[in-house]
Amino acid sequence: MTDQAICTQNLTRSFGSVQAVNGLSFTVDVGEVFGFLGHNGAGKTTTVRLLNGVLMPDSGESTVLGYDPVTEGTALRARTGVLTETPSLDERLTAVDNLTFYADLYGVPATQVRQRVAAVLETFGLAERGGDKVGGYSKGMKQRLALARAFLHEPELIFLDEPTSGLDPVAAQEVHEMIRHVSRDEGRTVFLCTHNLVEAQRLCDRVGVMEHGHLVAVGTPHELAHQIGAKIRYTLEIAPDQLKAAQEALTRMTAVDDVREDDDGLSISVSDREVIPTILAHLIAAQIRVYAVTPQQVSLEDIYMTLHKRAEDSR
Ligand SMILES: Nc1ncnc2c1ncn2[C@@H]1O[C@H](COP(=O)(O)OP(=O)(O)OP(=O)(O)O)[C@@H](O)[C@H]1O
Ligand SMILES: [Mg+2]
Repeated sequence: MTDQAICTQNLTRSFGSVQAVNGLSFTVDVGEVFGFLGHNGAGKTTTVRLLNGVLMPDSGESTVLGYDPVTEGTALRARTGVLTETPSLDERLTAVDNLTFYADLYGVPATQVRQRVAAVLETFGLAERGGDKVGGYSKGMKQRLALARAFLHEPELIFLDEPTSGLDPVAAQEVHEMIRHVSRDEGRTVFLCTHNLVEAQRLCDRVGVMEHGHLVAVGTPHELAHQIGAKIRYTLEIAPDQLKAAQEALTRMTAVDDVREDDDGLSISVSDREVIPTILAHLIAAQIRVYAVTPQQVSLEDIYMTLHKRAEDSR
């Protein structure tokens, strides 16, 4: 079994009459990039705060890196990094001084502080401006500095609340590379709140979708497509001289909803990937040479819009 970085059960938190997070139960595996999606006010930031022990739940439980955020918040936060929505930086200090202050706060050993500060400034493209006062930074530079701060103490689990908001496209791309790097090469877990569905599709192993405090779906984009009954398209690479025969055979199969020719061969649409082995068996029995079967990426944007519309309709 894979280790779990996060496990919650019925986590609930209200503010007055607003149920910000309602009966939240889900898990995040160690090393995965988990995308947390949802409209404004859906409960994403509240969840991040609950999982870091800076906000207490009304009821429910969670375990984060083996800690209980309610009773072991300090120990937990030494091993998590957080980029908040509105990071507070001391504008009167330089970037180096800001980071040095936080390195001490996070318990980075004194002998390593200088080296860690220099390393994160380099990683986030601020090495040359590290000695400048943060008050003179552009919005994007402040965002990069806040990211640098979240990575300062080499946390095992990193919460990023809208990490690319305010960044130019090149800087956003660099942050994406960074997220991939810390996840794939360093095995760190990333919990990513984002409104950017293209970003989520590119980066996330699994996503959860929040609607008004409720988690309405969780899984890989393919699993979500299946859950909502969306069609999945596959490309079949077929021997060129057998394209026509294959197309006719596929058209006759009831499990295949649609067959088209495309650049790479034939593109078919099915409701469930479980029908793929049967479809292949039929093609092989008909002596059609199939060289490759590739699932086409499902659009997270389509899935998200469908889930959102359903949730709105049921309100
Ligand atoms: N400290 C607070 N006091 C009062 N209400 C709060 C507080 N924090 C959150 N809420 C309310 O809880 C709900 C969820 O807010 P939250 O910030 O978690 O949403 P979000 O999904 O992060 O939204 P966004 O995408 O806009 O950042 C909202 O209705 C919000 O007004
Ligand atoms: Mg938020």
